[in-house]
Parts: sequence; C-alpha cells; structure tokens
Amino acid sequence: MPLLDVKNIETYYGPIMAIKGVSLVVEEGQIVTILGANGAGKTTVLKTISGVMEPEKGSVKFMDRQIDHVEPDKIVKMGISHVPEGREVFHDLTVRENLMMGSYLRNDKDGILRDVEICYDYFPILKTRSKQLGGSMSGGEQQMLAIARALMARPKLLLLDEPSLGIAPFLVKEIYEIIKKINKEQNTTILLVEQNAPMALAVSHIGYVLELGRIVLNDTCAELMENEDVKEFYLGISDQSIRGTKRWKRKKKWR
Ligand SMILES: Nc1ncnc2c1ncn2[C@@H]1O[C@H](COP(=O)(O)OP(=O)(O)O)[C@@H](O)[C@H]1O
Ligand SMILES: [Mg+2]
Repeated sequence: MPLLDVKNIETYYGPIMAIKGVSLVVEEGQIVTILGANGAGKTTVLKTISGVMEPEKGSVKFMDRQIDHVEPDKIVKMGISHVPEGREVFHDLTVRENLMMGSYLRNDKDGILRDVEICYDYFPILKTRSKQLGGSMSGGEQQMLAIARALMARPKLLLLDEPSLGIAPFLVKEIYEIIKKINKEQNTTILLVEQNAPMALAVSHIGYVLELGRIVLNDTCAELMENEDVKEFYLGISDQSIRGTKRWKRKKKWR
C-alpha cells in the first residue's frame, strides 16, 4: 500500500478545469517530484492533497484513508504538512515563534522543544536568527523557515511547492541538500513540485511530468534524466540532430 495514492482527480477553479484526471503514488520513504511549467497545475495538485481544494472527481488516499473531503487541519493532524508556494511565513512573529506555530496541533511539550532543536540542527541560520522577525529574513531564509515550520508538525509526508522559486542558486543547492538529509534521517516522505528540473531530478527517486493538468510522463528520475523530451524541455539540452524528423514533429506537438 503506498503512503499516498491519488487516483484520477479533477479539480476546478469555478468552471475552469485545472487538473484533468491526475493519478500518482508516493511510497513511504521516497522523494517524489512533479515537474511542470508555469500554469501546468502543480500548485493545484498539492492543494488538492492537503485539503485546501476539493476534487470534483477522483480520490486521494493517505495511509489507506480517503482524505479528499477532509478539512485541511485534520489532514495536518493525520501527518501531511504543506509548504505553500511563496512560503508564507508569519512576518510579525520571530523565527522561533514561527516554528512554534508549526506545532500548534501537538501537545507533547518535550517533543516540541526537541524538534525545535532538530530544526536548528538542519537550518543553523534559524538558530542564529531565532529572535529576528520572520519578515526580516531573506527569501531563501524564509523558505528554510517555512520548511522547518512544516517539520514541527512531525509530518509523515511533506509537500513542498517550488522550494527554489525566487531564491539565490547557492541557497537552492543548500536547501535541496537539507531536504535530502531530512528524507534520509527523519524518514520523512516528500512530494515536491518544481519548475527547476535539474535540482529536483537530482534529489528525487521518482518523477512525474505534468502538462496542462495531465501527467504525460512518469518514471524513475534516473530514467527521466535520460529521456530526450525531458532533456530538451526541462533540462535545456537540445538535440539538434533530430530537427526536421518525425520525432521532432511529435515533440513539437507534445509541447
Ligand atoms: N485562483 C485561481 N482562479 C482561476 N484559475 C486559477 C487559479 N489558480 C490557478 N488557476 C489556473 O489553474 C491552472 C493551474 O494553476 P497552478 O496549479 O497554479 O499551476 P502551477 O502551480 O503549475 O503554476 C492555470 O491555468 C491557472 O491559470
Ligand atoms: Mg504553482
């Protein structure tokens, strides 16, 4: 039984169908990535899993329990934490207070304090800045704070919406290294969505490619990195030798 089992979901904004029958599975312990261009539907898929949006059709199962019409805070309590696009830390709370907010559904005080220290170990900058206001941190530091805050709920599954968006490249690399470490050491399963394909493919086990609300590819990341379409459209490696061939025409259509 997979940890997360999404079957054929359709999600709408009013009359607009943003997700057109998406299915995906996430096995416990994995890092799974959904690649897609701007507007592909990545954020909407994550919102449908975390209960912020409800699908019109299809189902979302987490640890074999159906959660597609469950309230978002109940879903957090069941073990899914969502770091939304654009991070959204509390600007007027200190770094430490932001972390404490992440544990609002818990009442094991000792465990909470221990987890603050674990977060500080992963993100030493948060310890240095613990008394600083969230809003005064840089974009990359806020992303670290948002991830750490989500960890404070002790999730089994962490959803990350474009952790690299608008962040300096050296910090993106650092954040991804920490994501990998958290997955390994805390055994936290991770589902992340990205436009930054090279980084996401490098740390993830399994990848899906989302285009206009549909999954068009699904494979191990090792295989995806060798896939000609992925190379060309997501990794920016173009194969000039096939220009004008049947395959080239098919690819143009695929785009
Ligand atoms: N609040 C909204 N109202 C109407 N349409 C929306 C809204 N948010 C997103 N969409 C549309 O849904 C589609 C998927 O958007 P989104 O999930 O945000 O894509 P991504 O995260 O991959 O950039 C896009 O066509 C987008 O324009
Ligand atoms: Mg998005």
